Amino acid sequence: MRITIWDLPVRLCHWLLALSIAGAFISVNMGEMEWHMRFGFAAGVLVVFRLIWGLIGSETARFTRFIPGPGSIVSYLRGTWRGLGHNPLGALSVLAMLAAVIFQVATGTMSNDDILFDGPWAVRVGKDTSDMMTGWHTTSRWVLLGLIGLHILAVAVYTFLLKKPLVRAMITGKMDAGKTDAGEAVPEGGVRAPRMRHPLVAVPVLAVAIAVTAIGFRYWLA
Ligand code: HEM
Ligand code: HEM
Repeated sequence: MRITIWDLPVRLCHWLLALSIAGAFISVNMGEMEWHMRFGFAAGVLVVFRLIWGLIGSETARFTRFIPGPGSIVSYLRGTWRGLGHNPLGALSVLAMLAAVIFQVATGTMSNDDILFDGPWAVRVGKDTSDMMTGWHTTSRWVLLGLIGLHILAVAVYTFLLKKPLVRAMITGKMDAGKTDAGEAVPEGGVRAPRMRHPLVAVPVLAVAIAVTAIGFRYWLA
């Protein structure tokens, strides 16, 4: 039985976030700072969107459903955890990545490159704070890159060693509910399809996310 586990907004948000972060790294290496800020802004919008969607979105997108307690982590490590969506360890890495992106974007808005480009808050917070934020911003890239590397490695292990098609699920939204996370067969009727929100609900949520991030970037003053 194939069921939908990731709604369209979660999937679009994921791939666009990956693209914006790649764009932020590429543009900064090319010295294209305006583009660097635009990609960073896009990443900011997507994370704010994901945070709101994590409160009101589909069942598998909700933080209350996938933020793990110690019990579920232990049962996952013992191989007895059953469920659809993010597994307890995956959920920790998701939260860490979202937090790392927020940190990267927030420090970016206060950074300066000592030549031509200032983040929108750089002047307002003062040169000393801006320089400190620039230091954090350039160092924390390694945390973000490390988490992304670990994420892609974990996905590769699931895909190639454990034969669980996670990437396909993140593209199509669908997963074979006949197998548990550990690859064992689930008894018929053992899995209920998660409740999904209508994707159009994501449209006003996106509008709010754009507005909130634009305010954060002081675009209303520009
Ligand atoms: C900049 C790069 C990336 C970032 C920041 C990132 C971030 C994330 C986040 C935040 C989630 C949670 C999705 C949600 O609940 O909204 C996720 C899930 C996922 N990502 Fe990525 N991702 C990146 C790149 C990739 C790449 C390149 C792949 C594939 C090769 C990938 C495959 C997946 C898969 C399969 C899941 C679902 C995991 C599960 O079943 O629990 N990601 N990613
Ligand atoms: C996910 C989003 C972001 C990522 C991954 C990212 C990544 C980076 C990296 C890796 C550098 C260091 C480049 C180097 O030293 O060669 C950098 C520098 C910089 N970033 Fe970002 N950034 C992001 C968002 C932003 C945003 C939103 C802004 C401003 C609005 C910003 C402003 C800056 C500035 C001003 C520098 C120059 C610092 C310097 O020259 O020392 N960044 N960023």
